Amino acid sequence: MDNYLGILTGGGDCPGLNAVIRAVVRRAQDDRLPVLGVYSGWQGLIDGNVAPLTKHSVAGIQYRGGTILGTSRVNPLVDGETLKKIQDNWRRFGLSRLIVVGGNGTLSCAMRMWRDHGYPVVGVPKTIDNDIPGTDYTFGFDTAVSIATEAIDRLHTTAEALHRVMVVEVMGRHSGWIAAYAGIAGAADLILVPETPFRMSEICDMLTKRKQLGRPFSIVVVAEDAKPHPEEDFLTVEQRNRVFHENRLGGIGHLVAAQIEERAKLEARVSVLGYIQRGGAPTAYDRVLATRLGVYAVEMVLREEFGSMAAVHGTHMASVPLEEIADKYRPLDEEIYRTARTFFG
Ligand code: F6P
Repeated sequence: MDNYLGILTGGGDCPGLNAVIRAVVRRAQDDRLPVLGVYSGWQGLIDGNVAPLTKHSVAGIQYRGGTILGTSRVNPLVDGETLKKIQDNWRRFGLSRLIVVGGNGTLSCAMRMWRDHGYPVVGVPKTIDNDIPGTDYTFGFDTAVSIATEAIDRLHTTAEALHRVMVVEVMGRHSGWIAAYAGIAGAADLILVPETPFRMSEICDMLTKRKQLGRPFSIVVVAEDAKPHPEEDFLTVEQRNRVFHENRLGGIGHLVAAQIEERAKLEARVSVLGYIQRGGAPTAYDRVLATRLGVYAVEMVLREEFGSMAAVHGTHMASVPLEEIADKYRPLDEEIYRTARTFFG
């Protein structure tokens, strides 16, 4: 059949993707628009790995994590040969429009596919990191924050029992959204985020003071891309290269804990939450947000608002040009970090 609306999920997985897929299929059905699922992100368009999605095939997926379509970090714009394969498959499978659900990388590619190659795309922002400009929230973030908060609650009781410092490393890529929200919710004593370089001297003073005041345990939440202030940099070149990869971050928590033990002479332990933060069922908030974005994205397709992304502004849905958000990321809101700081120490 011709005139398919395609949908693909690209980049890292994120709780809520299945809710978007279900919403897109159900809303498209109302306007008799057949939907074609593209497997493994852009890779599915390159390989011609697609299958029709129906009300029946998307039933019972809303509360499941991951994505029934699979995903990948494949870039469709690598070379002319790849673009030719996409063009051939686009025609072969009768695609006429495409909904692209992804994070910064996937949506930037979607913008170029629209602007430079004329593919009629509509974007849907997703990421646990909440770092996509143009939208107040991304689905997946609330789930990640809930998981991290529960972990911090659990670490609180073990830290308190053994009078230890617990360093909790959370995801977030280059932003401190997850760290700040989970840290505030979990009543962390200190939250280190990429937007504000930290000073080990201040951290050790604070933890020592807490101990002197009769609080011998502390919770320190560290975002995976938090970095020391250049004036107090303690990282070797080897450590820096290992921990701050562009696409794979992780390890700063252990280095911070080692410094706490060495300088403040406090016993410290580390928990790296890692992929647990983006696995499993989405929260109710994320299911609703993902569903609203999916429905709205189809309505944008019907209104031919191509080259744009569905977004949430306050309590309303909105349409944002992809050019405004491509290749950019949204740092943690300063006001939120100021609020978090009120509870440090
Ligand atoms: O963007 C989501 C995210 O989970 C980040 O928080 C993290 O830095 C990154 O993806 C991990 O990527 P990968 O799945 O490629 O290891």
